[in-house]
Amino acid sequence: MIRIAVLVSGGGTNLQALLDARKEGALGGGVLSLVISSVADAFALQRAKKEEIKTITIERKKYREISEFDEALAAALTEEKIDLVVLAGFLSVLGAKVLEAFKDRIINVHPSLIPSFCGKGFYGLRVHEAALKAGVKITGATVHLVNDIIDGGKIILQKAVDVMPDDTPQSLQKRVMQEAEWVILPKAVELFCEREMTGGKK
Ligand code: GAR
Repeated sequence: MIRIAVLVSGGGTNLQALLDARKEGALGGGVLSLVISSVADAFALQRAKKEEIKTITIERKKYREISEFDEALAAALTEEKIDLVVLAGFLSVLGAKVLEAFKDRIINVHPSLIPSFCGKGFYGLRVHEAALKAGVKITGATVHLVNDIIDGGKIILQKAVDVMPDDTPQSLQKRVMQEAEWVILPKAVELFCEREMTGGKK
């Protein structure tokens, strides 16, 4: 059994995709054990509570230093014996302690085809605004491993999505979520868990 923590900061539609995959038995031996939010009123928390998944709020704004926030996150993840950390719309940067303790065990979903429109300052709607401004005809989403370079870890899965001539950042965000993020995030979790369950042989 692979114990999974999902870290969120907002609406939690990617968390919902994982909750739905779980119902279909599509997490490859992974168990959604904990949801941590960096924002107290994130709607994602309600989604988790509805499914009776343990939730913790560790508010980024309550910690002056990133190192203290990092400590609190690391302690919560260790306490719950977490094997895999999934960043699903988690908008705070992780610190050294969590990165070291969970090396190659943290994955993130990003709403573009990395290496385009990623790195510092590229999150949420801003990513889609930048894609439209650049005039790209194809965008998409990426699931990647997390290291100390923002959006710089090894790419696990990507899926392309067409940009339509009349797209707004909002319409593009919705299509990228529906066609790409909600598909590749559960798939990447399943792949990770299956590989762990078979001792890396899959
Ligand atoms: C998603 O589009 C996710 O890819 C993005 O924030 C949104 C969260 O939505 N994450 C980033 O931009 C990280 N760089 P959700 O809370 O509904 O899952």
